Amino acid sequence: MKRKGILLAAGSGTRMGELTAKQSKQLLPVGGVPMVLYPLRTLRCAGIEEVLVICRAEEKEEFGRICQTDCAVQSTPAGIAEGLLIAEEWLDGAPSVLGLGDNLLHGPRLTEQLTAASRDLDGATVFAYPVENPGEYGVVELGQDGHPISLAEKPASPRSKLAVPGIYFYDQSAPQLCAHLKPSGRGELEITDLNRLYLEQGKLKVVMLDRGTTWIDIGTPEALARANSFVRESGCAPAAIDC
Ligand code: TTP
Repeated sequence: MKRKGILLAAGSGTRMGELTAKQSKQLLPVGGVPMVLYPLRTLRCAGIEEVLVICRAEEKEEFGRICQTDCAVQSTPAGIAEGLLIAEEWLDGAPSVLGLGDNLLHGPRLTEQLTAASRDLDGATVFAYPVENPGEYGVVELGQDGHPISLAEKPASPRSKLAVPGIYFYDQSAPQLCAHLKPSGRGELEITDLNRLYLEQGKLKVVMLDRGTTWIDIGTPEALARANSFVRESGCAPAAIDC
């Protein structure tokens, strides 16, 4: 069965401050086109044909027009892993890839690495990327053999400098596994908790993103400015479909 893509474009966007008073973060322009088109292109690079965008009810029509995909609604920002529950019926038993609507990934070996992850239908695959501020992300610790040994969400004392970027490949069991998750202290179904279930079953693979890949998590006004400069300098803006 073909892998299907889920693109999460709901959430609160509180760190963007005033910029998200009137619209979601994922609709803010980056390089002249809505931010969501970057992670949509990332899913296309992975060879994904069918995509479901998950957004707020009032923006469903707009996301549908911009992305030209199916759309579903998340009524409250109850966590990234809830996306798999919302998409369960639409997935209809297919393996999935979940992408975050505010993550920009670009690099010469990206398509190759994503395609390899997408073709592997066994368990889950996530990526690792060294950062200076791992405590702001999901953090993975690797053993000497390169296999993952621990995962933590925004840890106060990170066990490594390796953050997990917002693109996650799952086998068909992910929605059922999500049904076992309990909300975290901040009231969210955490994607790191789902990834830990795969880790505990020995079914989580972690691939180091190529050093030439740029990853920008566009969560703050500073990151938005960085993304705009990067797109300007690299000329990597995707074509807008109808915006
Ligand atoms: P975050 O950046 O972690 O959260 P946020 O967008 O709510 O922003 P802030 O922390 O500033 O309030 O979310 C990562 C991505 O996942 C982003 O594209 C929004 C999306 N998301 C959802 O679609 N639903 C959710 O319930 C959550 C928590 C995030």
